[in-house]
Amino acid sequence: MAGQFGSKFASHYATSSFRNGCWTPGEIVPVAKLLLHPAAHVLHYGSTCFEGLKAYRHEDGSVHIFRLDRHVERMRNSARLLCLPEPDEEHLSRTICGLVAASRDEVPAYPSALYLRPVLIGVDPNIGSAARPSDDALLYVLASPVGEYFQAGENPLRLWLEDRQMRTTPEFGEVKTGGNYASALRHVMQAKENHGVDQVLFCPNGDVQETGAANFLLLNDEAVITKRLDGSILPGITRASILELARQAGYRVEERDIDIAEMLEWVKTGEAALSGTAAVLAGVGALLHGTHEYPVNGGQIGANTKRLRTLLMDIHSGRRPDSAGWLTKI
Ligand SMILES: Cc1ncc(COP(=O)(O)O)c(C=O)c1O
Repeated sequence: MAGQFGSKFASHYATSSFRNGCWTPGEIVPVAKLLLHPAAHVLHYGSTCFEGLKAYRHEDGSVHIFRLDRHVERMRNSARLLCLPEPDEEHLSRTICGLVAASRDEVPAYPSALYLRPVLIGVDPNIGSAARPSDDALLYVLASPVGEYFQAGENPLRLWLEDRQMRTTPEFGEVKTGGNYASALRHVMQAKENHGVDQVLFCPNGDVQETGAANFLLLNDEAVITKRLDGSILPGITRASILELARQAGYRVEERDIDIAEMLEWVKTGEAALSGTAAVLAGVGALLHGTHEYPVNGGQIGANTKRLRTLLMDIHSGRRPDSAGWLTKI
């Protein structure tokens, strides 16, 4: 799959508007530029949220969306917390599924996938509405054929531990909204430039949270540990899936606070990984903190990381039965 992740689009997208208190039925139309009033609420007051999920093609040609219900639920939660009109579950699911059905021929073969990007924006043209929600909104869904995020021979990731700055506010981390990514960006750019790392692991006051766009997990032969969902981090759907598969495989799963000192002790013998829709489960090879570099699992991607990633990928690809009903067939 040529090109950068997310830079190539399927020919059509889905749109639906919220006007006078009602949603218009989802329409599938060719991808074209949006016409927005320059005073649109989203452009001034950041009334926007989005999702990222994937549809996979199985060997028999059938197409399946992974954990559609969870992504719909998370987007509705984001909309609610941003005071945006909240699309009901059926409307949002139907709009996403309609686009996948219309784009069926553009779903690449596994391990490539069709990445789906539902977006909700406030469109009221009123620059005086800083303290008022947008009455009208636009929902649209883009589709982007994407390759495997990490190719074979992938390098373990190097992470900078940011122990003062937060990615976003303590309450808003669970919202998938543009402002959270904007507020993390400067810290990520600085760490990349100053320390040559791949990502920043946000650990304000020593509390190990997540990176700019993925959840963080500690693993070894017995346990998988990750921060509890307290509103400060995104409730990752890959995170939830990996934890469920880890439980079934006999690991002890702990969702709780982790501090930097415990993490640095852990990685002397254990593994660390990032989870997310794009990367699935990516091994971490080093943590950088202050002037020190701490190798993780001797700088290698660990066996438990590989094992859990394979378990999840086998469900994505249809190689293992979907006993939990995580796939929606289109
Ligand atoms: C901040 C953040 N954390 C975690 C994740 C992982 O979430 P998911 O596994 O649902 O893709 C993402 C990716 O969407 C993210 O942007």
